[in-house]
Amino acid sequence: MVSYGDERRREENLDNLLAEPGLRMFFPNYSETVKGEDSQASELDEVAERERYEEVLRQAAGENLQLGQAVISVSDGIIITDPHQPNNPIIYINPAFTKITGYTAQDILGENCRCLQGKETDPQAIELIREAISKKEPVQVTLLNYRKDGQPFWNELKISPVFSDQENLLYFIGIQTDITERKRAEEERVQLLQREQAARAEAEAERNRTANILEGITDAFYVLDHQWRFSYLNSHAEQLLFKTKEELIGKSIWEEFPELINSKFDRELHRAVTRNVTVHFEAFYTELEAWLEVRVYPYKDGLSVYFRDITIAKKSEESLLERSRISTLEAEVGATLGQGGTTLTETLHRCSEAMVQHLEAEFVGIWTYNPGSNTLDLQAYAGQEEIGNWVAGRQISSHPRIPLEGSMVGFVAQTQQIYLTQDSGQRFKGGLESRVYNGEVAESCLVIPDIYLASAPLIVEEKLVGVIAVVMQQNFNEAVIDMLGWMAHAFGVAIDRFWAREALSSRREALLFRLASQIRKSLDLDTILGTAVNEIRSLLQIDLCQYLWFFSHPTQPSLMVTHEAKASPTLRSKLAEAMPQKLAPLAHKIQNLQVMRVDDVADDTNLDAEAKALLSNLGITSALLLPLETPHAGQRGAIICTHGNGQRPWSDNEVDLLQAVVDQVAIAIDQAEVYAQSRAAALAAQSQTSQLEQAMNELKQTESRLIQSEKMSGLGQMVAGIAHEINNPVNFITGNLTHTSTYIRDLLDLIELYRKHYPNPDPEIEDQAEEVDLDFLIDDLPKLLSSMQVGADRIRQIVLSLRNFSRLDEADMKPVDIHEGIDSTLLILHNRLKANANYRGVEIIKEYGKLPLVDCYPSQLNQVFMNIISNGIDALETSEVKPPQPTIRIRTEMSDDGKTVIIRIADNGSGMPPDVLKRLFDPFFTTKPVGKGTGLGLSISYQIIEKHHGILRCESELGKGAAFVIEIPLNQN
Ligand SMILES: Cc1cc2nc3c(=O)[nH]c(=O)nc-3n(C[C@H](O)[C@H](O)[C@H](O)COP(=O)(O)O)c2cc1C
Repeated sequence: MVSYGDERRREENLDNLLAEPGLRMFFPNYSETVKGEDSQASELDEVAERERYEEVLRQAAGENLQLGQAVISVSDGIIITDPHQPNNPIIYINPAFTKITGYTAQDILGENCRCLQGKETDPQAIELIREAISKKEPVQVTLLNYRKDGQPFWNELKISPVFSDQENLLYFIGIQTDITERKRAEEERVQLLQREQAARAEAEAERNRTANILEGITDAFYVLDHQWRFSYLNSHAEQLLFKTKEELIGKSIWEEFPELINSKFDRELHRAVTRNVTVHFEAFYTELEAWLEVRVYPYKDGLSVYFRDITIAKKSEESLLERSRISTLEAEVGATLGQGGTTLTETLHRCSEAMVQHLEAEFVGIWTYNPGSNTLDLQAYAGQEEIGNWVAGRQISSHPRIPLEGSMVGFVAQTQQIYLTQDSGQRFKGGLESRVYNGEVAESCLVIPDIYLASAPLIVEEKLVGVIAVVMQQNFNEAVIDMLGWMAHAFGVAIDRFWAREALSSRREALLFRLASQIRKSLDLDTILGTAVNEIRSLLQIDLCQYLWFFSHPTQPSLMVTHEAKASPTLRSKLAEAMPQKLAPLAHKIQNLQVMRVDDVADDTNLDAEAKALLSNLGITSALLLPLETPHAGQRGAIICTHGNGQRPWSDNEVDLLQAVVDQVAIAIDQAEVYAQSRAAALAAQSQTSQLEQAMNELKQTESRLIQSEKMSGLGQMVAGIAHEINNPVNFITGNLTHTSTYIRDLLDLIELYRKHYPNPDPEIEDQAEEVDLDFLIDDLPKLLSSMQVGADRIRQIVLSLRNFSRLDEADMKPVDIHEGIDSTLLILHNRLKANANYRGVEIIKEYGKLPLVDCYPSQLNQVFMNIISNGIDALETSEVKPPQPTIRIRTEMSDDGKTVIIRIADNGSGMPPDVLKRLFDPFFTTKPVGKGTGLGLSISYQIIEKHHGILRCESELGKGAAFVIEIPLNQN
């Protein structure tokens, strides 16, 4: 609140109040007074007037207290300056000024306002103020000022001069508005605006750029939204799709282009959408007759589709591909024709297969023309048979031979012109129904849509040899037509050559081939020469064909006919009958390897006189002599063809042919010779080898016999010695045992008698009887004796067996009970047959037949039993598959004729594989571990049985045991 109590304050307030811009109206006379003031007026008057006006002002202020209040409390800064004082100082500021600038009245009263300015303050704005002040005019500027603390602020400054009523300038009033915030906001707005504008410009530029790019790219481009509607398309797309943007934007692609439904486009576009993948494909767009390359990119709002016409590239690619296919085909066909198969059909078949493959043709067929029957004969075809039927006008499988009428190929054969299905006009969409050939109508068998036929005659030297037909699904382009022309020619030549070759082969080469193969088949010289002369004679249809062997001699070389073939069996050959030395003129020619070719002996001027005379003497009217020399051995000979009934001209062909045959014969003779020699050498070597082998075997056998007999005789002697040594003491024991038992029986009877008559014996006797356990003794003693008897008997039996086994005393052949020998062997082996803790033992099953005494060397035969039975025990012990009960079954019987004793010793062990069985009786062959068997046992046994004129054999199979069968004659004489 403004207080007016204090005079000074009141003055300040007044000053402040005067700063109010609207105050001018409160000083209506003030300015006027000042303005109208007479320069001569006295100072007193001036003071008086001022005071008066001050009074007025006071009054006005008093009256306008409320207004003053407003001046103080406004938010704008208010400054009043006094222009009458030097430097136009500030004489009043309101509180808002302090608030804005930081300057108090104390700081700034008396100062010029320029102190608010700084280096960034706009000099132009200052200039405007300066000008306005000097002109005493109001001015409004916005300029940058600085607060007391140096902070800048934007000042929107309005300066107004205040005049008195007399238009005298009283004050300047400045009103400051701090517009820093507004300015900043404005600047921000401007910046924002600028940014927005920049962004808009950028977006626009981007749009333009994109549009330019999309327009500029060579690809056609369109965008589809999620409803498959066009949302954008560039002008290339317009051109390619033949529709404008206006026609397409907002329209569904499927409605605008219904032909695309279910096409590759449809599938691929849907694939891009459903799988959210980029797809890239090429497709033929039938409506445009163009190949398009399409790239589809899904994005959040739909699909971007780029596509371009690649028809030209595709076509050139295709034509390149086709050219390469054609060259490959040409090369392949060329090679096939060059190599030639075994048959024409095979060669042509390979070619037609190659054509179908490389041209992707539907059908290729090759017919040869048969002038005899005036027909076309199908040689080969590949591809679809039903198209072949259409081309041939009938079923090709059942009608390989067709007449020239009524078929496409027949038509070509007749016209001898290439026929091509035309692309327009004559092209049979929906197939060939009927066709006019040379005025005749040929009905087609089949209706085949959209196929193209090219058929060309195969002509060689103006002669028709055949027809080729090619059927494709697309029209024939120039390259293919060219190629077909080339092929027609190549096939024609090949067929013609093949036929020519065949004709030749049927004569000359066939003979050569036949002869050569026959000759090669046989390495027998006789057959070779016999075949040669026969074949030649029948081929040349001459009287005689002969083979002459040449025997060299320094002065008198000679000849001999070794083989001949005659036109008739009765025909005589004077040549064969002639004395060798008479044939000297021919022999010389052969010696010099000189061909003699005489068509007519009588007329031939080249023939030397000697030869001429000889031939005439032999009754030969024409002759062809072809000498030969074997390449390896250098032997000489000749084939001579003769005729005895007038002249016989020899053609060059015949001479060539015979020369080739003679060359073959020369080689064959050599081969036969070499073969014969090598056979002789081989025979010699073979006999040497077998002799050596035999000697070796004998050596081995002798060696084994020696070893064994040495061993056996040692063993035999030892066994015999032991048997003898044991025999004597055992005889004592057994001899005395009988007496001992009688004596003991007597003694026991006596004791019994004593007991009966002296029931109460002397105590000493009683004690002794008790001591020795007389009752037990009486009971046990006889048993003891009988057991001793059994033991002694057994010893005696063993000794007997040992003696029986060794039979040293019986070294000669004598009739023997075979069973006895077997039994003694078993007795000796008793220990090995017994069961023990680890082994079940071997059960012996004897199936002895009724045998007479057999003539033999008993000790040797026992040795055989010993070997076989102990081998059997070994086999059972070591058998991998243990039989439930190891058994050796010994069966003896007489043969049906009663002449042979058969002893069969069989075990149920694991048997032997065939390779072991084969070598079983070989000396030193053993299957036992090293050190266990000598490998001699069975080989000796074999020899022993052999010595008895018998047979020892083994029957065995792996897993089924082994049986040794001994067969010996009952009588040895
Ligand atoms: C009433 C009045 C108020 C003024 N207020 C300001 C002000 O707020 N800020 C400023 O820079 N100049 C202000 N000026 C202008 C300066 O005081 C001064 O006139 C200007 O700088 C030009 O003069 P010069 O060339 O002597 O500096 C004001 C002038 C008058 C008469």
